[in-house]
Amino acid sequence: MKKETKRILVTGASGQIGSELTLALRKIYGNDNVIASDIAEPQQGSPLANGIFEKLDVTNFDAFEQVVKKHNIDTIVHLAAILSAVGESNPTRCWNVNIGGTLNAFNLGVKYEMSKIFVPSSIAVWGPGIPKIAPQDGVLKPKTMYGVTKVTIETLGDYYFHKYGLDCRGVRYPGIISSETPPGGGTTDYAVEIFYKAVRGEKFICFVNENTRLPMMYMPDCLKAAIDLLKAPVENLTHHCDYNVGSMSFTVKSLYEEIRKYYPNFEIEYKPDYRQAIADSWPDDVDDSVARKDWGWQPEYDLPRMVEDMIEKLKVKLARN
Ligand code: NAD
Ligand code: SER
Repeated sequence: MKKETKRILVTGASGQIGSELTLALRKIYGNDNVIASDIAEPQQGSPLANGIFEKLDVTNFDAFEQVVKKHNIDTIVHLAAILSAVGESNPTRCWNVNIGGTLNAFNLGVKYEMSKIFVPSSIAVWGPGIPKIAPQDGVLKPKTMYGVTKVTIETLGDYYFHKYGLDCRGVRYPGIISSETPPGGGTTDYAVEIFYKAVRGEKFICFVNENTRLPMMYMPDCLKAAIDLLKAPVENLTHHCDYNVGSMSFTVKSLYEEIRKYYPNFEIEYKPDYRQAIADSWPDDVDDSVARKDWGWQPEYDLPRMVEDMIEKLKVKLARN
């Protein structure tokens, strides 16, 4: 008999997604039942500190196991990772953290007969030649080490499900836009940085060109995807760690134009660097019909609503700091 989700460990909890997903999970499962962990301490003043926090390097199996045992963990939300742009500066570290950390999470999941492991994948699983709207199933030929690790993790998820019956789940997140914690070194970071510059009244130097179009998602939908998938009955799931989830798709130019409705004098300059090639290797949008059918995926934010809310939230945050 599988355990129910009652005691959750979030790894990588100090990061862009973890800092908000941990709090959202605490609201649902109770403050003391969601343990935050990261190799890095939470930002100063972070509400993460209002609950239990463990300093943990996920590549250290013994330390990971100690935390699992200490807190009687039955579910791991495994967010610790090295993202695409930072991963290209140290591909071996990217492999060791992303694959080593996930293998440790999966092996602990098997050893302690856990209820579930949630581990996000990414639009980085695709590579050049992918159709503009990426299908759920198809060829995966990434050109970054980060993408290579995400394809491997998806494959490992299938393997652990079939070999050990481990219930691993995950979505291929698009670029995530949020105001609470800055992103940790991905190719889609421009879509967050642009807001900080606009609200501060500074010019934005963009590292990809104006016609770059990528799938993106606002944080409330990112949290909703994780929470909805975690709650879905396993018998409804036809996939494991590789669900496409769409939300919005826009070029940098159209994002800039939308922000200029609030800041008409906002200036942008384009200086593409190595991240242009990474962005060009990813699709414009994704076909998420399988997630909609299997577990009722339905995003709530479009570009205008996201821009309005981001500006409102960042104005408050930057006035505080
Ligand atoms: P992030 O870089 O903001 O946070 C990752 C966290 O992992 C950081 O706090 C970092 O300190 C921690 N970490 C790194 N190495 C570690 C280690 N050895 N042990 C423990 N912690 C370690 O990333 P994020 O954006 O919050 O991403 C979370 C997950 O979502 C990742 O799997 C990422 O690939 C995936 N994802 C994110 C996006 C996005 O746009 N943010 C898009 C697609 C997928
Ligand atoms: N936002 C992530 C990155 O750019 C996509 O997984 O790396």
